[in-house]
Parts: sequence; C-alpha cells; structure tokens
Amino acid sequence: KKVVLAYSGGLDTSIIAKWLQDEYQCEVVTFTADIGQGEEVEPARAKAQAMGIKEIFIEDLREEFARDFVFPMFRANAIYEGEYLLGTSIARPLIAKRLVEIAKDVQADAISHGATGKGNDQVRFELGAYALMPDVQVIAPWREWDLNSREKLMAYAEQHNIAIENKKGKKSPYSMDANLLHISYEGGVLEDPWAEPEESMWRWSVAPENAPSEPTYIELTYEKGDIVALNGQAMSPATIMAELNKIGGANGIGRDDLVENRFVGMKSRGCYETPAGTIMLKAHRAIESITLDREAAHLKDELMPRYAKLVYNGFWFSPEREMLQAAIDHSQKVVNGVVRLKLYKGNVIVVGRKSESDSLFDESIATFEDDKGAYNQKDAEGFIKLNALRLRIAARKRQAK
Ligand code: ARG
Ligand code: SIN
Repeated sequence: KKVVLAYSGGLDTSIIAKWLQDEYQCEVVTFTADIGQGEEVEPARAKAQAMGIKEIFIEDLREEFARDFVFPMFRANAIYEGEYLLGTSIARPLIAKRLVEIAKDVQADAISHGATGKGNDQVRFELGAYALMPDVQVIAPWREWDLNSREKLMAYAEQHNIAIENKKGKKSPYSMDANLLHISYEGGVLEDPWAEPEESMWRWSVAPENAPSEPTYIELTYEKGDIVALNGQAMSPATIMAELNKIGGANGIGRDDLVENRFVGMKSRGCYETPAGTIMLKAHRAIESITLDREAAHLKDELMPRYAKLVYNGFWFSPEREMLQAAIDHSQKVVNGVVRLKLYKGNVIVVGRKSESDSLFDESIATFEDDKGAYNQKDAEGFIKLNALRLRIAARKRQAK
C-alpha cells in the first residue's frame, strides 16, 4: 500500500507521515507545494527523509495557482457571505489535483491530508480528489486517531523523534494557512468572537492607522478580465499578486475579521489578510463598470454568490462550476482597459478607469451639457408612463375601494 500525503513540513503533517507508516504499514510519498505561502518549501525534503520517506515531491505551483485558480475566480468577483475572499478555498482544489496526479504517477492507491474532521478543508481536498480519481482511497488521520489534543500530539512527536520546534522557536497560537491570495488565522483567542486579536497576530499588513499618510497610486491593465500589467509593466499572474500584496500590505489594505458559516454546519471566526485580493476585486469591478453591458453585469452579480458558495464548499471540479465559469469567461472578452487606484490607509479608492477598445461609456450621451441631440429627453416620457402603467392601475383600484 502506498499513500501520497499533502505535507507542509510542519509538526502536524510530520506526525501524520510517521503515523501513516506505523498504523497502516504503508509506504508514504510526500508532496509539498510552494503556492506563495512565503515559507521555504525545500526544508521539507530533509524532514521527510529523516522519517524514512523515499519519494518526495516538492513543486513550485505559484503560477499555476494564480493563473488557473485565482484569476478565473476573480473574473467572477467571488466573495463568500459578503466578506471572505476565499483564499484557502481556492487553493485546496489545486493541492487535490496534484495529489491524485502524483498518486497515478507513483502508483499509489491512497491520498492523505492534515485537515481536521470539523472543517471545510477536508471536504475540499476530498471532493477534488474523488472528482479526478473516483476510486482513490482517502486517509484523514484527524478523523481516526486519538491524538486530539496538543499534549497528545507533542507526546507522540517526542516518542517518535519528530522535531517539535519550528524555525522561530515557538508555535503560533493560531491555526494558519497562507498562499499568494491570503493568510488566515483561526483558533486561539479568536474562538471568542467578541475578542479583538492583538496587533502582533497580523503578519502581512501594517495597521491602517500606521500606514503612510501619503497615498500610493497604481495602474492595473486588464485583458479579458485578467490583470496583465502593473504600472504599465507586463507581469505574470503570480508576480502581480506578490507585488500587490507588498504594496497593499504596506498601505494597511486587506485585513478582515469575520464569522463565517462552514459547510459542515458550524459557525467559525477567522481573521484574514488579503491585500492583493482586496485591490483586485475593487479594480475588476471598476473595469467591468465601463466595459460590461448592464444586464450582463447584473446577471454576473446574481450568479456570483452561487459561484462563491461552490468554491467555498469545495465543488471547484464540478459541472456546475464549469458551466458558470464558461458564462463568466465569455463575458470577459470585452473586459479590457486600465484602472487607476489610490491606496490610502486601508482604503482602495478607484480614481480612474478607461478602455480604448471596449468602453461603453458615451460622454456625448451622458453629459449634463448640451448633448446636441444624441439623446432625446422626450423619449423618457413614454418610457416612464409605460413602466408606471401597472402601478397606476393598481393605485386606481385601491382608491376605488
Ligand atoms: N475558514 C477558511 C476557509 O474555510 C480558512 C480555513 C483555513 N484552513 C486552515 N487549515 N487553517 O476557507
Ligand atoms: C481544519 O479544520 O483542518 C481547518 C479549518 C477548515 O478546514 O475549515
């Protein structure tokens, strides 16, 4: 028996790597990916080797993540429950995809992950895996073992000579997850939804009140709904996101503190830093505002919560997500142009938008000055009268009673 484990190199998944070998007598293959979490992935090799792992996969997936997952999702303006930019949700399907691809490569019959039995991540990993490899076996140690406290985990690690200290010497009090799109914090003091986290929790951004008092202006160039250049300079999707995270974080942009509804049914409190994503959402809506037809834009807005929920619940590889994506991508053919933004103390303020090829904004019609006959104001009278017809009929009826 052979199992491919999504291995971060951290304590929990190291314990899992050991536990799988002991409990299942199986050969463990580790897979570690750089998806922009901002930590070296190469050290995972030595750690895996130290536990007797022979097949070790370490990959840089930053461009694939940005190009094939984050960017398509941002074409939809996806946001879950009005707040959450889906930073963790959108990364899980990519990990699932690589897990099963590697499983096929090395002829493994099972995959394993370090998500608990209480969360969303288990659902996302496993729905993704089953969708791409229907007969794969899934081993989710958190749902099986009795190492259900920090103490028991530590004891297990000590017994099996697994290094407990991380580089910084102490473990963070939060359950965290990071990639190019966000860093998230859950657990610890955050389990009280009334408790404000200490300032030192936030790792990617300065507090808005400590951000520079001079604004930063940037320009984003769009092609078919995707950002292709920053300040006129062409960049790859992952590079753009890394740059926007830096600029946004320095201006106090992208912090969020919320309570969300997990798919498994519980409410959960989380804090998030999503600097690039916060800028990208605002900018994308701005470029759509001059290039998209009204009804196309409104239909997108109606479909968006559906799309966001699909991604949140782990249905990335599903016919309904692909259907919606096809419609959304079709709408983006005309989403070309430039957005100018002012970043200031936690705010993303759109100050300009233009599209030479696709702007539907017609100044000669919209003007408050003389439009020289471009728009006949008399047409509005009949337009309003017919729209009022049913309202007037009903009002007369009420009066007659
Ligand atoms: N609550 C967020 C979500 O469901 C973040 C989950 C973070 N995951 C983690 N393993 N720390 O998408
Ligand atoms: C976990 O439970 O493993 C993390 C939180 C989540 O998946 O929602």
